Amino acid sequence: MIHMLTVTDLSFSFKHHPIFDHLNFSIHDGELVGLVAPNGTGKTTLLRLLCGLLLTAADTLVLNDIKLYQHRTKYLKQLFFLENSNQLYSELTVADHLTYVKAMWRSQIDIASVIDELEMRDYYKKKIKTLSLGMKQHVLLAMYIISDAQTLFIDEPLNGLDPTSIQQFEHIFLQLKNAGKSMVISSHQMDSVGRVSDRVFFLKDQQIIDVKNTGQDMLTIYNQTFLKAGD
Ligand SMILES: Nc1ncnc2c1ncn2[C@@H]1O[C@H](COP(=O)(O)OP(=O)(O)O)[C@@H](O)[C@H]1O
Ligand SMILES: [Mg+2]
Repeated sequence: MIHMLTVTDLSFSFKHHPIFDHLNFSIHDGELVGLVAPNGTGKTTLLRLLCGLLLTAADTLVLNDIKLYQHRTKYLKQLFFLENSNQLYSELTVADHLTYVKAMWRSQIDIASVIDELEMRDYYKKKIKTLSLGMKQHVLLAMYIISDAQTLFIDEPLNGLDPTSIQQFEHIFLQLKNAGKSMVISSHQMDSVGRVSDRVFFLKDQQIIDVKNTGQDMLTIYNQTFLKAGD
């Protein structure tokens, strides 16, 4: 059986402000989808919808044959999503967070090797409130790796990273993809998106423009898609 996320007829509005209009798509295991759109378009909203943090119609979301609204816990156990580093516990340490995720997701991943791989040795015993944004982004990525969840939704993981860390994160995304994870990763870093994605979803006019990555320059496509005529 091919495992996949299937989204059928997804519509969503905030009050009278439509965000998505009848979206249909699927994402299979081992596929990495880049999620791209200007600020305020709906990237975070889409990721929240896929995790049931915002409500939509029954039967819209199915992950590996499990419907979100029928079997919420079973559906959610298959994925990992933590929207941003504001959701980390400021008074707890990095190690506390990693131990917690390992226990909750019943994962076999070795925490020490993830700390080594992400070069977090200098700060894994520190409290979150003492860390820089880039360090907190590393903590979030470590939590995704340690969850070992089959499906990963990652919201703007490259924000606040130096160029070396961006390369390190790209390498890890490709490792996770090669391990068969299905991933949706939002970013404004078009060169990174072009290097790691199999497909890119550009959000525009409440729709998804689904672009297969054949090595074309994603920044050019971004500009063609989003720059207004006359700019
Ligand atoms: N809780 C909310 N209540 C009302 N409107 C919201 C809420 N969250 C987001 N929005 C609106 O939905 C739109 C999409 O937001 P968002 O998904 O955060 O965009 P992005 O992540 O692409 O920057 C924006 O216009 C934003 O103002
Ligand atoms: Mg967002």
